[in-house]
Amino acid sequence: EKGGFEHFMLKEIYEQPRSIKDCMRGRIYPEEGKVQLGGIKEFAEKLKNIDRIIIVACGTSWHAGLVGEYLIEEYARIPVEVEYASEFRYRNPIITEKDVVIAISQSGETADTMAAIEMAKEKGATIFGICNVAGASIPRLTHAGVYTHAGPEIGVASTKAFTAQVTVLTLMAFYMAQQKGTITTSKMIELLTELDNIPEKIQMSLESNDLIKEVAAQIKDSTNCLFLGRGSGFPVALEGALKLKEISYIHAEGYPAAEMKHGPIALIDEEMPVVFIATQNSSYEKVISNIQEVKARKGKVIAIVTQGDTEVKKMADYCIEIPDANEAFLPLLATIPLQLLSYHIAVMRGCNVDQPRNLAKSVTVE
Ligand code: F6R
Repeated sequence: EKGGFEHFMLKEIYEQPRSIKDCMRGRIYPEEGKVQLGGIKEFAEKLKNIDRIIIVACGTSWHAGLVGEYLIEEYARIPVEVEYASEFRYRNPIITEKDVVIAISQSGETADTMAAIEMAKEKGATIFGICNVAGASIPRLTHAGVYTHAGPEIGVASTKAFTAQVTVLTLMAFYMAQQKGTITTSKMIELLTELDNIPEKIQMSLESNDLIKEVAAQIKDSTNCLFLGRGSGFPVALEGALKLKEISYIHAEGYPAAEMKHGPIALIDEEMPVVFIATQNSSYEKVISNIQEVKARKGKVIAIVTQGDTEVKKMADYCIEIPDANEAFLPLLATIPLQLLSYHIAVMRGCNVDQPRNLAKSVTVE
């Protein structure tokens, strides 16, 4: 049942080229520069005139929401707020009939996310769901939605469901941009052609597995670890840190790289591994100066870099390459080595990676 893999988590990490392909099937038309999302098509007109979107979710799904915020604002130019479902529901949030709420949940059973949906629905908002489990409670509560089609996820730590959520949010961002006319057809052709090739690039990223295992061996005895990124690399850093803490029990934190100097920099010494998302995109130069700040304090730098990088390689202790891609697709690619890194560290520490202590696959309590 584990398909020859030692753990479900590893199997699910390796399934990602296929799960992302399944998630895009029948939804993208690169030659025409079109996205079709049957699940929300009834609301196509409404999407032309919405003032804002509120995304609600918990845990890893909330991280996917942060990536969604970046993409929807960039391409569809609609303001987005991303809320922890548990915080949102206990405030007295301002919601109107003009709002669209997107609830993201792998299991479709998370109690806080369900309660947030019910509340927003009562106030008249339109609710879209992004779920993995067909027919679960959340898809039944929403007005419309898009399934992630990642297939059953057995490992408690979410991997392929996360990248499928990010894929759906990418499609939604492009779909909304198409409806609103904030993107040209030629730009859409370019982006969708590239998106279509992302499963292959993920396959290439998986080929760094042996190198990642070596890096894991070097940092497995750490008690703390920092993950830093900028732009859409920031939610990737948060997700990298969550994965490491939940399965290896190493204390890890994700931060926007520029925030390091406002506090966490005090933690850095030769015992502290710092994982940077340092790919060649708009924030590359800035991230390089953050890496210098860590090296000046003798921190151990592990960097996720673009294939062929030379600058970061001069400074970092370990570099893990991912294929070059448009910034929009960076979260999909940069997440893969971080999943593998956590996995190997947890295995080396003798942890139960598929069923970490104190965690359950779906959190049906509040
Ligand atoms: C972490 C993880 C959790 C879930 C969270 C929400 O790997 O799996 O943080 O993401 O409990 O669960 P869903 O997406 O089922 O609502």
